[in-house]
Amino acid sequence: MNIENLQTELAGKNPRVILKAALAQFNNIAISFSGAEDVVLIDLALNIRKDISIFCLDTGRLHPETYRFIEQVRKHYGIDIEVLSPNRDLLDEFVKTKGLFSFYEDGHSECCGIRKVEPLRRKLTTVDAWITGQRKDQSLDTRQEIPEVQIDSAFSTPEHTLIKFNPLLNWTSAQVWDYIEAYQVPYNLLHQHGFTSIGCEPCTRPILPNQHERVGRWWWEDGAKKECGLHAENVKK
Ligand code: ADX
Ligand code: SF4
Repeated sequence: MNIENLQTELAGKNPRVILKAALAQFNNIAISFSGAEDVVLIDLALNIRKDISIFCLDTGRLHPETYRFIEQVRKHYGIDIEVLSPNRDLLDEFVKTKGLFSFYEDGHSECCGIRKVEPLRRKLTTVDAWITGQRKDQSLDTRQEIPEVQIDSAFSTPEHTLIKFNPLLNWTSAQVWDYIEAYQVPYNLLHQHGFTSIGCEPCTRPILPNQHERVGRWWWEDGAKKECGLHAENVKK
């Protein structure tokens, strides 16, 4: 299958159409669910395929509300959610040498590398394609150019070409929330407490009215670097 042709076909299409195409093209495909408003992907996908595979990266540092929400989603839809943990040896060594909050001193990339990127890489070697909840409006710095479908240059290997779908890319936050309300989709209670973008507890904080959602993530760092490695191809080299 030619990804450029598929991209031309899917450009500007509704999330449901993009998801349908993704699920029609790939059997061995999985949704990556962060425990936030990307729950709409799960709701949309289950209407197309009941046994779609879903995984979460459990960094060990998510908010209690997020863990409870992941469980709520599992029960609400009666689905399996694969919850992936970091590599124990790497994590033990990292925490032993750098402690639990080194990211405030020398940046988030080492911790994200161990707690998110390594487990994701492990998972992605087992699938042909993955589906994310990335949207353009989530970041003016790094997400304006994401396409509907792309070759995942960060996680493909010479032996294994990995495809990445971003069905929600053109939806605004307001459209996502309209969907959640209209279809009574469960949501993370942190959203009621000023959190818009939700990541790990030590690296996420609520935002003020009219602040951009990304301001609440890794707030001590520069805007252009606010990608943790899951979506590394968004950051211009
Ligand atoms: S992040 O890269 O900054 O952490 P963000 O929170 O904007 O990502 O979420 C964008 C998409 O990345 C989510 O919709 C989801 O597909 C994926 N993602 C982010 N965090 C996780 C996670 N902990 N587990 C699984 N997928 C995740
Ligand atoms: Fe570590 Fe923060 Fe990255 Fe979570 S978001 S993996 S706690 S640096």
